[in-house]
Amino acid sequence: MNMVKSEHLTYEYTRITEDANGEVHEKITALSDVNITIEQGEFVVVLGHNGSGKSTFAKHINALLEPTKGTLCVKDMDTRNGDLLWDIRQSAGMVFQNPDNQLVATIVEEDIAFGPENMGVEPSEIRKRVDEALATVRMEQYATYSPSKLSGGQKQRIAIAGVLAMKPDCIVLDEPTAMLDPVGRKEVLETIRRLNREEGITIILITHYMDEAVQADRVYVIDDGKLVMEGVPKEIFSQVERLQGYGLDVPQVTEVAYLLRKEGIDLPADILTIEEMVGAICQYKSTI
Ligand SMILES: Nc1ncnc2c1ncn2[C@@H]1O[C@H](COP(=O)(O)OP(=O)(O)OP(=O)(O)O)[C@@H](O)[C@H]1O
Ligand SMILES: [Mg+2]
Repeated sequence: MNMVKSEHLTYEYTRITEDANGEVHEKITALSDVNITIEQGEFVVVLGHNGSGKSTFAKHINALLEPTKGTLCVKDMDTRNGDLLWDIRQSAGMVFQNPDNQLVATIVEEDIAFGPENMGVEPSEIRKRVDEALATVRMEQYATYSPSKLSGGQKQRIAIAGVLAMKPDCIVLDEPTAMLDPVGRKEVLETIRRLNREEGITIILITHYMDEAVQADRVYVIDDGKLVMEGVPKEIFSQVERLQGYGLDVPQVTEVAYLLRKEGIDLPADILTIEEMVGAICQYKSTI
């Protein structure tokens, strides 16, 4: 089944400023004719330079924004249909960049219970969901802590647990590791990958970190509101110059391989990991 499908998705913001003659309405096209189909169970990464439209896309999946033109469906539910709003939000949960803005309660387990409580889930079922969600993000021992006592990575895992308690099919994470230190980033990424592999939850991860993108099933690149690249990580990252043209980096080892190739050393263009690099260099050595 399609988890998320956008067809000709276009979104315009209206920026209102004032000049001597009064209000000026300026249209900003943040997304332009975007067609994306994400299958159930996929781990997808969305890349793009600042202001390219990634967050605007993410907000459509949660029906926080409604298309100006075109459509976006979550499990065949059209986000323009207001009657489906709660079903859509229950199916597709969102995690944002700043963990401090997402945690609402003063005790971890109350925070996780907040979503299901609002959905009218029975108390005994809520208790079960909170315990399961805490176990899934490996934070059981922090159930009665105050979120303010947790590290950034732990707070993001609680934010993820809060979404899990809603039993979503899909989680959209908009730069969830941007404010974290390397340890926190690793914890959160491992959690995300486990949710995908073990719980079968569809993951849509927006990130600036190429090492996170390498682990995805598919990568989408958005530039200036348009979908410009789509493929498995090896297809995307072997196109170093094109990515640089969109203001994006490639993983460090991929760049080293690219620079060595430019010097005439015949290495594969799609090296993504250190292990692959080591293998390719050993192979190359045996040919000289
Ligand atoms: N509320 C808003 N009002 C007007 N313009 C907006 C608004 N939000 C975003 N935009 C504009 O829409 C475009 C896309 O913004 P968006 O936040 O989706 O990009 P992004 O890829 O998420 O960027 P970043 O990497 O900085 O998070 C940008 O030109 C931005 O300035
Ligand atoms: Mg953004």
